[in-house]
Amino acid sequence: MNKLKVLITKEEIERKVAELADELRRDYQDKHPLVIGTLKGSFVFMSDLIRKLDIPVEIDFVRLSSYGAGKETSGRVKQVHGVKASIKGRIKGRHVLVIEDIVDSGLTTRFLLDRLGRRKPASLKLCTMFDKPSRRVVEIPIDYVGFTIPDAFVVGYGLDLDEKFRYLPDLCVLEDQE
Ligand code: IMP
Ligand code: MG
Repeated sequence: MNKLKVLITKEEIERKVAELADELRRDYQDKHPLVIGTLKGSFVFMSDLIRKLDIPVEIDFVRLSSYGAGKETSGRVKQVHGVKASIKGRIKGRHVLVIEDIVDSGLTTRFLLDRLGRRKPASLKLCTMFDKPSRRVVEIPIDYVGFTIPDAFVVGYGLDLDEKFRYLPDLCVLEDQE
């Protein structure tokens, strides 16, 4: 059995998204960035963020997988679905912004940043809604952070446990119940 406890409310999330959007708007106003979200977790954040951002952006998604079922990363990252072929050829010289739901071990993000970096973008930055630095195994420079959170398994606002709880508007901690 699992018990859910609200860690960050939907109102706090909404305010933070607006702050991040203000910052990003200043930095990307005239750059027509390519914004790449990581599926599935970041789709909720991405959709809130780009509408608050209110500047022209090009959007794509990649799908990476490192988790099996459960709460621990398998440590092996694979790309399930990459950047669209017609966009891939145009990364060189573009300003690329990666949108993550959460950076935990950092392995997934590292894998993606390395892949994109090889295509020589004009800039490559990372924006994550949640950061769990206590569990990092590889160093990840994060340019924009929503919330730094403690070492707990969280769900909601796009994040799941075995495909459950993604739809929750608050970020919740999943506590094991005896
Ligand atoms: P990392 O490679 O360990 O940084 O984790 C990458 C992915 O694991 C994230 O994009 C999430 O999809 C998932 N993940 C990590 N921590 C959590 C969590 O607390 N709740 C739900 N998913 C998580
Ligand atoms: Mg993710």
